[in-house]
Amino acid sequence: MTSPRTTLSLVDTDPAELAVDAIVIGVHSQTTEQESGSPAGALLLASGAESIAAAFDGKLTETLALLGATGGPGEVIKLATLGTITAPVVAAVGLGPEPSGAAPAPETLRRAAGAAVRALAGAARVALALPLPDDADAPAALRAVTEGALLGGYRFAGYKTKPQPARRAPVAEVLVAVPDAADATAQAEVTRAQAVAGAVRTSRDWVNTAPNELRPPSFADAVATAAREAGLGVEVLDEAALAAGGYGGILAVGQGSEAPPRLVKLTYTPEGGGNGKRVALVGKGITFDTGGISIKPAQGMWEMKSDMAGAAAVGAAMLAVAALKPSVAVTGYLPMAENMPSGTSYRPGDVITMYSGKRVEVLNTDAEGRMILADGIARACEDGADYLFETSTLTGGQVIALGKRIAGVMGTPELCERVRAAGDATGEPAWPMPLPDDVRKGMDSDVADISQVNAGMDRAGHMLQGGVFLREFVTDDVAWAHIDIAGPGYHSGEATGYWTKGGTGVPVRTLLHLVDDVAANG
Ligand code: BES
Ligand code: MN
Ligand code: ZN
Repeated sequence: MTSPRTTLSLVDTDPAELAVDAIVIGVHSQTTEQESGSPAGALLLASGAESIAAAFDGKLTETLALLGATGGPGEVIKLATLGTITAPVVAAVGLGPEPSGAAPAPETLRRAAGAAVRALAGAARVALALPLPDDADAPAALRAVTEGALLGGYRFAGYKTKPQPARRAPVAEVLVAVPDAADATAQAEVTRAQAVAGAVRTSRDWVNTAPNELRPPSFADAVATAAREAGLGVEVLDEAALAAGGYGGILAVGQGSEAPPRLVKLTYTPEGGGNGKRVALVGKGITFDTGGISIKPAQGMWEMKSDMAGAAAVGAAMLAVAALKPSVAVTGYLPMAENMPSGTSYRPGDVITMYSGKRVEVLNTDAEGRMILADGIARACEDGADYLFETSTLTGGQVIALGKRIAGVMGTPELCERVRAAGDATGEPAWPMPLPDDVRKGMDSDVADISQVNAGMDRAGHMLQGGVFLREFVTDDVAWAHIDIAGPGYHSGEATGYWTKGGTGVPVRTLLHLVDDVAANG
């Protein structure tokens, strides 16, 4: 299932004269009279809207206020221009209070661009005249606007058998007003945004695909086909190859399903060897998580179709890597299995010999993600990674601790800090968490090398148990970070900003930022 793509280009002509279906401008809210020097509650047009305001004879803010505009983040107020400018509609998107002296934060712009493009569904061609700084912050602001616009234009094709006349088509074409459309740095941001947003959309499509249509063999096929087209090296280990290779963790989780497990390996080799560093990306690909024999309650279980969001992010990020050609080697590992209860399922009490040779005592078949990831991580280390980023919808504990927006990060402290910084830069927040000794101690098994969860099934430090377990499979000389996206990988609420309902594409943009970071800084 693929959704139609939005196209994007830059313009530097007067927005008031653009022949488009709608022009988007920014409005700030002014909270107090003291702060702004003008009456409380007044709106302030953001820069970029000057020529449009002039065409309205100074009555634009007043008109927007009459229509209920407050300038609050995410708000979009549309008004007919009645011949004052070329475009028939102006859409004013709220940017919140004006930051003192500075341009809005990139994430504010990204969300505003997304919200505006979503609200203008039904229009074919839209221009964005948002405030863009003309200093050193210009590329980050333009990156935010272009990504937000392209992602706000995302819609999952879905499965409805009848056409939906009430559903307006996503915006097909976006123009972004900039000071100089021919500027090479600005053009490079457009090229990058197209690759990056394309990857986020692909990962959302995979997450949103119904789980009966995306089981390990078909998911592996979809990823392999896209990766071959992109020019990546592709290796798919089927159940026979997994058995021959001794991938005990992937096989144990997969053995309860009629749809057998897979391990997909995607390789990007930079021209001339790049900077000599090797990055490994590992993503959890549970195409559906029933919990297995330790079965989950029915309520909300359908959302476990998103339990492959980590693998989707890694696979999609690899497609963007192939397009962006960073000067560092990147390999993606996507272990895939369906966690089902059946007569052939693995069970609590089983002892599994993992790919690394370590033996794991299973206590809860619902802690399946760490089983398949341990094998993916061990294989990545064996292949010679310098930096290993692993991402997974691993624990409900992540949602309890950090909520639905902020990912939990565990691993080598220096690398965790780089993940946090990457999340900050991309608008995919991530927060470092510890790997305490007592949590590891609690996972000592009576019979095997380690228990899969706390030996007494104590849920204390639940998210940390996942990190502590995975650490056992990382080789000492590898810098690693585990990114738990149980919350941010999937959005169950209504669309907001550049997020639509369903798969979010988190942490595709973080992974790509980290690849660039390692390419530039080692
Ligand atoms: N896929 C789930 C984690 C999850 C929960 C993701 C909610 C997204 C939203 C994972 O496999 C799981 O079942 N984790 C258990 C672990 C427990 C059995 C040790 C959990 O979080 O309860
Ligand atoms: Mn589970
Ligand atoms: Zn799971």
